Amino acid sequence: MFCETKDLSREALKALGLAFNPFKAVVVPRPIGWVTTLDRNGVVNLAPYSFFNAVSSDPPMVFYGANGTHAADDGEKDSLRNVRETGEFVCNLVTWELRHQMNDTATPAPHGVDEMKEVGIAQLPSRLVKPPRVAASPAHLECKLHQFVELPADPRSGKRNVMVIGHVVAIHIDDTFIVDGRFDTARARPVARLGYMDYAVVTQSFEIKRPSWPLARKPESVETS
Ligand SMILES: Cc1cc2nc3c(=O)[nH]c(=O)nc-3n(C[C@H](O)[C@H](O)[C@H](O)COP(=O)(O)O)c2cc1C
Repeated sequence: MFCETKDLSREALKALGLAFNPFKAVVVPRPIGWVTTLDRNGVVNLAPYSFFNAVSSDPPMVFYGANGTHAADDGEKDSLRNVRETGEFVCNLVTWELRHQMNDTATPAPHGVDEMKEVGIAQLPSRLVKPPRVAASPAHLECKLHQFVELPADPRSGKRNVMVIGHVVAIHIDDTFIVDGRFDTARARPVARLGYMDYAVVTQSFEIKRPSWPLARKPESVETS
């Protein structure tokens, strides 16, 4: 299968034998930033973003991509609008136990609705920023807005793609997940996004040490076609 991305219409994909656009299914697994923000009146918003990742570690920076519009009024999604208003957000780690609550917070609740309260998610205060944390999440990143990056979008749709880059000013980790001084990722069972409506859960990890130069391992013969 080969497809150029300039035409991703249903008809074009069907002609290639594809039921859906495969892009998100091959950029996997994507971590989920479960983002808490406050609006200018202090109302909490919580929503999952899988166009989310770390982009640097010193200083630690993360981003999430707010794509499209809020279903209620075609305006900005709350997680974008609130950060524009207040400049702060918190990323909560989504675990296997929290998967359904995470999914429930993806509903397009009208602006000004406290989604943590609606979904029944207990909160904890943050230390350096005002948006609260998801109490049952084993790790949280407190973030301050670094920059918005406006990405290309189809001008006919009137929709936007905005990358929200944040500086991680504080990290919380539940001590029960720290083993021998390291965050035990597999014990936390983080959930990641695949394509379509599919998810993955991390239950195992393995270590590979980085090689020094020159390589000790002999390369296998390389064949090109
Ligand atoms: C697992 C998951 C990942 C999502 N990732 C994104 C994303 O990366 N960008 C985006 O704009 N919407 C994403 N969504 C949809 C938003 O969560 C949804 O539009 C939500 O209503 C936005 O809420 P807000 O207006 O409260 O910010 C995702 C939904 C789910 C369930």
